[in-house]
This record gives sequence, C-alpha cells and structure tokens, in this order.
Amino acid sequence: MQDHPPDRDALHALLDFHVEAGVDLALDETPHNRFAEAPPPALERRAEPQQETLRSAPAPSSPPRALPMVAAGAPEDAALLAREQAKHAQSLEELEAILRQFDGCALKFSAKNLAFSDGNPQGRVMLVGEAPGADEDRIGKPFMGRSGQLLDRMLAAIGLDRTHVYVANIVPWRPPGNRTPTPQEVAICKPFIARQIELASPEFLLCLGGPAAQNLLDIKDGILRTRGRWFTYKTGDGRDIRTLPTLHPAYLLRQPLQKRLGWRDFSALRRALDGKE
Ligand code: URA
Repeated sequence: MQDHPPDRDALHALLDFHVEAGVDLALDETPHNRFAEAPPPALERRAEPQQETLRSAPAPSSPPRALPMVAAGAPEDAALLAREQAKHAQSLEELEAILRQFDGCALKFSAKNLAFSDGNPQGRVMLVGEAPGADEDRIGKPFMGRSGQLLDRMLAAIGLDRTHVYVANIVPWRPPGNRTPTPQEVAICKPFIARQIELASPEFLLCLGGPAAQNLLDIKDGILRTRGRWFTYKTGDGRDIRTLPTLHPAYLLRQPLQKRLGWRDFSALRRALDGKE
C-alpha cells in the first residue's frame, strides 16, 4: 500500500504500461473485484401507492460516466458501410476525407491520427504495409519510424525514393500497443485500401509482409512462401496489377540475415520497372 500519492512520472509510466499492454478504453476510475462484490440490493419499494410508476426507476447514484467512444454496431455492418462509403470516393483526397469521417472501426478512437498515405500517388509503384506504429500514429503518415527508414534505404538501393512511390497500410489507424489488427478490423478497413489502390492505380504493387499479402491477394500461404513471386491483384474496376509480396522491413530489422531475400525482391521490382522481368 502507498501512503503518499504517486508522482507524475510514476503515473505516466503506469499509463504507458497500460497503453503498451493494449488497454485502450477507460471504463472506470477504480478497479472492481466483481467476484467479491455483493449483488446489487433490490430496489426499495416506495411507500406511496400513487407513485407506482416510480418503483422501477433506478435509485439515484453517482453522476453518469462519459460513454467510451467506440464504434457501434456489428463488424459486418461496419464492413458493409465501409464498402458503401469507399466506392463513392472519386479521388484519393475524397477517400481520405471519407475515412476521416468514418466511425465504424474502433481503432480510430484509440489512435492519435489517421495514417492515410505518404509519397507520390502518381508513382508507378504502391507499397502496402500492415498498420501504423507509434511514430506513424504521432506523425499521421505510414512508415515513419525505424521500418520506414529501412524501407527508404531499400528503395534507394534500386534508385527510388518517396517521390517515386506511394505508401499505405491495410489498416490506417494504429492498433493499441502495436498489436496485430483483428480480422474484423482488417475486414472493416479493406474496402478503403481496395479503393485507395484502385484510385492510385499503380503499375506495380508491393505487399510488405504476410498480412498485407494475405489480405490483398486473398491467400493463406505465409510470406516466406509467397515472397519474390509475382501475383495479380485485381481491382474492383477490372484492372490487373502486378503484385510482389516481400518481407516486412520490421521483420528484416529483427532478422538481418534475411535482408538478402528482401534485396532479391527489390531487385526483381527494379527489373520489372525496367521492363526486364
Ligand atoms: N509497419 C507497417 O506495416 N506500417 C507502417 O506504417 C509502419 C510500420
């Protein structure tokens, strides 16, 4: 037990711990042991029979708590709504504006920012990752942190930078604590990334990591099986885009020996851009 109030730093550290652990909603100010609590007392009968209608009214209690801001409704409804809204966007700017208004994905309410895109939407290549991390969430753009720096070095090795490529994620809001987005969150966001690809209409698509490859290409194989093989991504408006899954830069940071595989994939992209593959 503490006999003095914790200082600000200790409170910040505790808050950081909760955020990193994935706690994304404050339901109450104090914890409750629901097993130890007695069941709520039955409502007292009021004496005056003429106040019959008041009998079942709840007893006055503490002031109402603010409701947590979470997406309402079933995930299937949200995915349906996303599909409906995404198809109305006639430009990437419109799509971003629609996404900013969209409340169907609960990740929006724990994220600081929407990380919609970076780079050049007119570029011949579009890169798609999984979801923003802490740096991307703070800045509001994909691939801003250490993975983004490695990505930039890999692009530079084949003569590209972000003025040549367009960058996005399958989920545009940071999942709390950098957890993997749930299948429901991915399904809700999918119509938006699909429309984003359609509107950017790149010549080549690079899926960064297994989740991007599996979700965009509707395949189950892991990234170590699919990387380096050309696939076809079919847009909703009938275009075929040559698509190459490759290892995620965050994985390469953890497994530097695998960078040679990443290098092979980026070399394949270079050859394709030069019309040699
Ligand atoms: N990892 C991703 O998949 N996307 C980002 O934007 C950053 C890290």
